[in-house]
Amino acid sequence: MGSTEWKVHNPSGSRRVVVTKELPGKRWLDVLIQAGCKVDVCSSTDILSTAEIKTVIGNRCDGAIGQINESWGEEMFAALANAGGKVYSNYAVGFDNVDLDAATRHGVAVGNTPGVLTETTAQMAVALTFAAARRVSEAERFLREGKYKGWLPTLFLGNLLWRKTLGVIGAGRIGTAYALMMVEGHKMNLIYFDPHANKRLEDYLSGYNAFLTARKLPAVNCKRAGQIEDLLREADCVSIHTILDESTHHLINKERLALMKKNAILINTSRGPVIDEAALVEHCRTHPDFRVGLDVFENEPETKPGLLDLDNVVKVPHIASATSWTRQGMATLAAANVAAILMGRPAWPRPDISPFLEGTPPAAPSILNAKELGIPQYTD
Ligand code: DGY
Repeated sequence: MGSTEWKVHNPSGSRRVVVTKELPGKRWLDVLIQAGCKVDVCSSTDILSTAEIKTVIGNRCDGAIGQINESWGEEMFAALANAGGKVYSNYAVGFDNVDLDAATRHGVAVGNTPGVLTETTAQMAVALTFAAARRVSEAERFLREGKYKGWLPTLFLGNLLWRKTLGVIGAGRIGTAYALMMVEGHKMNLIYFDPHANKRLEDYLSGYNAFLTARKLPAVNCKRAGQIEDLLREADCVSIHTILDESTHHLINKERLALMKKNAILINTSRGPVIDEAALVEHCRTHPDFRVGLDVFENEPETKPGLLDLDNVVKVPHIASATSWTRQGMATLAAANVAAILMGRPAWPRPDISPFLEGTPPAAPSILNAKELGIPQYTD
């Protein structure tokens, strides 16, 4: 099975599923075993190459669960389909590593894991926001290095975000959750940029304003930016929650960074290539009061030269979804996608995925190409 180590669960299962990394929790494995699957799990933490994954797919594989740092394109889906494969699930909500059209051409259903990452990822964006605004990493390094000689009126002055303006790029589930955490918690005005108006968010905030004004507190503003440039000019803190595709690659570049306030905060928990990282390094070098929080990088796990040395950039290694509850939930959803397709179950049509977190999964929770493949929708 290739040079890396693989563990086999339920060896007598009649269907074979390949899982390219150990996943947290137990439920995901139970879901696959109950669907009659023999499950081959790679126990190495090394990122597997396309050649290694194709070798393990071999000539008999019904389904697979893979990772965001693997390239699931034409070559992989051809290999999976030739081995009899019918389904692949990304262990992620994002799927920029997956060529959906190639999967559809080969008749392979593709799943992802939305719904369990929303608050967890938004919470990390909040953590990075305040770590950047209040210079937490920089101050901790100073302390660890034994440089703290006593309280000073000017030691590590940061930014107060209370009642300032928040810019959210991409007002989907995670962007909305982050916006509400910041607006409700810190009474920030909101400007968001998204191809679609987010009526639910706007309605929620007008209800929130009624709550504030009834208490004689100043209301917050909420508006949708016509142009991303308007948001960048106005916001004191900008957080990116968009998907990565051709239209968002280097969405934040040298020119757009130059539009931002000199002491603005920029947060990215979406995908690294949304920011031109080399341009960001240069901008942070020349704008020491500009502060950044990054969970994602342009060429992970590499970072552009100079990024790691910058005190005004807080960085964490792509862990925004890393809570036990979320990562176990992601495993359950990925397994339920695979199990349901192999058992001929329909696709779940609703955003609420809570029915999958306990009991027998009623359907495939999230199949991205269900319509294209003619997979029927679940009906009660
Ligand atoms: C995702 O799910 O897309 C994250 O980046 C990893 O959890």
